[in-house]
Amino acid sequence: MHRLRSKIRDIPDFPIPGIIFKDITPLVKDPAALRLAVHLLLQPFLGRPITAVAGMEARGFIFGSLVAWELGLPFVPLRKPGKLPYDVQNVSYDLEYGSAMLEIHSDALADTDRVLLIDDLLATGGTAKASCELIEKLGATVEACAFVVELDFLQGRDRLDGYETHSLLHF
Ligand code: PRP
Repeated sequence: MHRLRSKIRDIPDFPIPGIIFKDITPLVKDPAALRLAVHLLLQPFLGRPITAVAGMEARGFIFGSLVAWELGLPFVPLRKPGKLPYDVQNVSYDLEYGSAMLEIHSDALADTDRVLLIDDLLATGGTAKASCELIEKLGATVEACAFVVELDFLQGRDRLDGYETHSLLHF
């Protein structure tokens, strides 16, 4: 875990003054660290009845698609507005800085699906909560949420009350 922690770089005042950005690019640049992160992310869910992995644009795509690949499951991208070409469902949410919207293809999941939601970072929990709502809008079930980094002081976990939530690193 120390190895992973050392690969998360603090960038002060990005994207706006007062925010310390957790930069995961050193981690994804190191193949052994990336493999370890993906292995640890999926480990609690081996043998669980998961049918799909969803990840949020953009950094959730990196970890989510690797977890899906390792589990041999479909990957479902949750995207920022206007990016998905087919019929979509959307949910608006508040960010640590600003507000945003996420979209999902309306045929991405069925009501029989049990989804593992993956992102790089849990901050305020707005993105993850909106993602859970999107998944549920399609009638699917959120099996659990898993993150590489959790910013404990922002209490995003509280917004995910009722959802099983795992994080590899806590700051
Ligand atoms: C970051 C991060 C999470 C989200 C967490 O994404 O990757 O998705 O913020 O914040 P929250 O818990 O307060 O909602 P961002 O919106 O910066 O998008 P990006 O991955 O495209 O940079």
